[in-house]
Amino acid sequence: MALQEKTSKLVINSPEANPEFEALLDYLKHSQDCDLTGYRRSTLMRRFQHRMQSININSYQNYRQYLQSEPRELLDLLNDVLINVTSFFRDRDAWDYLATDIIPKIIASKQPDEPIRVWSAGCAAGQEIYSSLILLAEALGIESCLKRVQCFATDVDEPAIWQARQGTYSARDITGIPPVLLKKYFQHTKEGYVFHPQLRRTIIFCRHNLAKDAPMSKIDLLMCRNVFIYFNPEAQASILVRFHFALKNTGFLFLGKAESVTTARKIFTPVSWKYHVYAKGLNLEREDYLSIINPAKLKASGRTSIVEVPEKATVSEPHPAALLDLRL
Ligand SMILES: C[S@@+](CC[C@H](N)C(=O)[O-])C[C@H]1O[C@@H](n2cnc3c(N)ncnc32)[C@H](O)[C@@H]1O
Repeated sequence: MALQEKTSKLVINSPEANPEFEALLDYLKHSQDCDLTGYRRSTLMRRFQHRMQSININSYQNYRQYLQSEPRELLDLLNDVLINVTSFFRDRDAWDYLATDIIPKIIASKQPDEPIRVWSAGCAAGQEIYSSLILLAEALGIESCLKRVQCFATDVDEPAIWQARQGTYSARDITGIPPVLLKKYFQHTKEGYVFHPQLRRTIIFCRHNLAKDAPMSKIDLLMCRNVFIYFNPEAQASILVRFHFALKNTGFLFLGKAESVTTARKIFTPVSWKYHVYAKGLNLEREDYLSIINPAKLKASGRTSIVEVPEKATVSEPHPAALLDLRL
């Protein structure tokens, strides 16, 4: 079945209200290779204005000139726009549900030696991927976890990835970790609390833009929490198609407390509304993924199959030109 038949209408990303702001976003996209067009305008404008106020600039036009003359400003702006707030076992009851209901299901769906693949997309300083790894190690035992679990922790923000890779946290950072788990999985050193080095090596950290780059594949547990809220509905729908591709048929998607799959209800079904866990719904075909993820590049490469998209892709891919509405 073609994707069009599974969907109700075509949505083209509509031009937003403030032309001056859109011109600034256009400048950033084309001249600074920094594409923020998929983010919600209300949040984005608030963040820009916060930056502009701090340097006494009162128009988007003047801010654009400032960005041109002060290359460092783009880093400060991104620091404000890409909110890195995170914590271990954030929304604790959802993690308890993951430990008691979802992780056992994932393990039960596998042969005893089969790999388990986890992806934290928008991982910030890494607390989310380490939280999931602790739960898996608790369920499988550390030895088996080391043999079977493969993790990916990705973020668009390089400094966040760097921090995540260190796996070293302050006394303030570790407050959400139950003492028994803290003792088992962290070593208290003079640099801080250092995560279990062997387990840390099961994680591949890389820069990855959710709205742009090819997704991972064969994932059993995909966590993308408190990231989605920053994107507009069109970008959310496009990301959800990528996630659908990334997940195994038996895989689970774990979103944040304020997030849902409303922009793509047909392709995901709720496992728990309360804890924002979803399974794959309607199947998509290869052509469906290609039409969203990247028709042009795939055609140019002469490849014919979506499964040939690199698994650990950090390659930049152009945006899709139009997005299909997957809502009911
Ligand atoms: C609020 S933090 C959420 C961290 C963690 N997932 C959690 O729930 O605690 C949002 C993260 O999303 C990242 N992010 C924003 N836009 C992104 C994009 N286009 N691709 C990948 N990560 C992105 C930010 O850099 C930031 O680290």
